[in-house]
Amino acid sequence: MLAVERLNSIISVFRERKIAVIGDLILDKYLWGSVDRISPEAPVPVVDVKKESYNLGGASNVAWNLSALGVKTVLLGVIGKDENGKLIRGLVEEKSIVPAFVEDDSRPTTEKTRIIAVSQQLLRIDRESKEKLSPEIVRKILSKIRDISEEVEGFIISDYGKGVVSQEIVQACVFSGKPVFVDPKPKNYHLYKGITIMTPNRKEAYECVKASPEESIEFVGKRIMEDLSLDKLLITLGPEGMALFDGDRVKKIPARARKVYDVTGAGDTVISVLATVRLSGGTWEESAILANYAGGYVVGEIGTAVVYPDTLKEIILLNLQV
Ligand SMILES: Nc1ncnc2c1ncn2[C@@H]1O[C@H](COP(=O)(O)OP(=O)(O)OP(=O)(O)O)[C@@H](O)[C@H]1O
Ligand SMILES: [Mg+2]
Repeated sequence: MLAVERLNSIISVFRERKIAVIGDLILDKYLWGSVDRISPEAPVPVVDVKKESYNLGGASNVAWNLSALGVKTVLLGVIGKDENGKLIRGLVEEKSIVPAFVEDDSRPTTEKTRIIAVSQQLLRIDRESKEKLSPEIVRKILSKIRDISEEVEGFIISDYGKGVVSQEIVQACVFSGKPVFVDPKPKNYHLYKGITIMTPNRKEAYECVKASPEESIEFVGKRIMEDLSLDKLLITLGPEGMALFDGDRVKKIPARARKVYDVTGAGDTVISVLATVRLSGGTWEESAILANYAGGYVVGEIGTAVVYPDTLKEIILLNLQV
């Protein structure tokens, strides 16, 4: 059994951590309104917009999770030369994250706009490019990785498949000798050789090795570890918690039963807490257990949520006191 005191002492050094996040930056935009009529132009509802709001998405949501934990966070990524790029930069700075952005005038800042009326999402509009980055932009990112690798204790690669994560970028992080935590995109599976740990969800794990649904999670995990020569792997299992693979051992960690409101962003919280606890001296098992608590907490909150150190301490008390 884990001692509450030990976990609390790990949490109390979160603020001494310094971690870099690299990946696809996304601006989540929400237009909130009401519907009173059907358009005379086409059989579609007309939304009268009352409010507009923005959130950090993709890799920038991972950075927001880290910063909420008290970690000094550097965020590397690509923005367009546009208004949305400025918006992301503003949101990032507001949350005490240090931006290390490369501006690319050949692509837009990735934007996902949700139109919501009567508490229901009517439409999502995406503006993005999934093209590979130009060699010049890649060079700029690599030089930023080199600049910060001395000062950070680890890297989180948050791959949303929009083109930022490439072999060179993964290898530059690995080459730094610092631990590299990866939230993968199955189509980029082959890029992640030499990393420290990967955190796919169940679907992504099966896709990575093209396993049929009858295969066991143990089989799938072992295949991934062999393919990428990994010693650690964390497969998140949604309402079933997670499976931590450590060398030859597999440990299933059951989910915390609680009311589920919104599962989006749980994966971002999991990798943030996992990396922070691990770099704060936690064992892999402690890191996964706290990440699982944190994941269970955020799915019970409305909207993409983050977890603060005090909340994490309360959750530990609730779970370990009995
Ligand atoms: N329904 C649930 N009940 C309890 N805990 C949950 C539930 N769904 C997710 N979690 C927690 O969140 C973690 C990550 O969830 P999941 O496996 O769905 O990741 P994901 O699909 O990567 O999420 P995301 O939507 O952010 O990409 C789980 O390991 C678990 O700890
Ligand atoms: Mg995920």
